[in-house]
Amino acid sequence: MTIQKHTMTHLPLGDHKTAPWYGKDILSVKQFDRLDLEYIFGVAHEMHDMVDHIGTFDLLKGKILANLFYEPSTRTSSSFTAAMERLGGSVIPINEVKYSSVAKGESLPDTVRTLECYADVIVLRHPEVGSAAIAAKAARKPVINAGDGIGEHPTQALLDAFTIREELGHIDGLTVTLLGDLKHGRTVHSLARLLSLYKVKLNYVSPDILRMPAELMDELSQKGVEQTEYTTLDACLPETDVLYVTRVQKERFADEAAYESVKGAYVINAEVMKAAKQRMIVMHPLPRVGEIDPAFDEDPRAAYFRQMEYGLYVRMALLAMVLGKA
Ligand code: NCD
Repeated sequence: MTIQKHTMTHLPLGDHKTAPWYGKDILSVKQFDRLDLEYIFGVAHEMHDMVDHIGTFDLLKGKILANLFYEPSTRTSSSFTAAMERLGGSVIPINEVKYSSVAKGESLPDTVRTLECYADVIVLRHPEVGSAAIAAKAARKPVINAGDGIGEHPTQALLDAFTIREELGHIDGLTVTLLGDLKHGRTVHSLARLLSLYKVKLNYVSPDILRMPAELMDELSQKGVEQTEYTTLDACLPETDVLYVTRVQKERFADEAAYESVKGAYVINAEVMKAAKQRMIVMHPLPRVGEIDPAFDEDPRAAYFRQMEYGLYVRMALLAMVLGKA
C-alpha cells in the first residue's frame, strides 16, 4: 500500500513476511512480552491515526477473515469485522453456528479446516477452555482466540492494556482493581496475566464464590505481583487508578440460585465514585447488566465506551501482524 506523506507513520506498514507475528496464532496472553506489547501498541496507535485521517485503506486488500462465533458477541465480533474491512479485507461471518454444519454435528477441527480453505485468518469464540488451541492445531492458517469459555480472551486484554496506556499514559506503578466475577471472567484472567508484565498492584474484589482462581493467583505471585483480595470495594477504591468492572457471568453457573445470590453484588454509581481519585478510569469489557449505573457514563472517568473504540485499533494491528503486513 502507499501511505500519503501527511499520514506517514513511525512503524512500517507494508509487506513483512519475515515479521515475527506473520502466520502466528494468538491464543493466550502468555505469548507476549513487554517488547511485543510496545510493538502492538505502536501499530495500534498508527491504525488509530490512519482511521482518523483516511478511514479505510487497503493494507489487507484481498484477504479474508472467517469470524467463527459459537457464543454471543457484539463488540468482539463487530470490531474484528470492522477492523478487517477498514483494512480493505473482507469477512465470512459465522455468528449463528446453528445455521452452519456445526448444527449437524461437525467437529471444531473439521469446521476450522473448512474455513481455512476460504479464509486467510480465523477468529474463534467458543464455550470450551482450550478450544482455540484445538482449532489452531487443526489449522494451517492463523487462529485468533476471541474467548474460550472461562479460559482466556487475549485480544480483549491487549485492548484493555492499550486503553490504560492511552488514557493514563503508562501502566507501571498503577493500582488496578478487578471487580465482579473473577472466577468465570476470561477478560480478567487474561488481563491480570498481561498486567503481570508491568509493575502493578492488583486488587481483586468479588463475592467469596467468585474469587480469582487460586492457580492464577499463584502464577502471578511467582512473578512477584502484589495481589490483595477483598469482598467489598470501599477499602481499595481510594488508591485505585483503574477500576475494571465485570458482569456476573450468568451462563457459566450450573445453579440459578447461586447466580441470584451474587448478581447484584456491586453497583458503581456517582455516590460510590465520590471515594475514588479524580484522575483514574473505570473500565468494563461490556456488556453490563446493572454493575454500572448508566448515569455515571457522563463522568470523564467512565472509559468503557472509549475502551471499545481502542479495541478496533488493536484488532486492526493484530490482523495486520498475523497476515504479514506490520
Ligand atoms: C466479554 C466476554 O465475552 O468475555 N465481552 C467482550 O468480549 N467484550 C465480557 C462478558 O461477556 O462479560
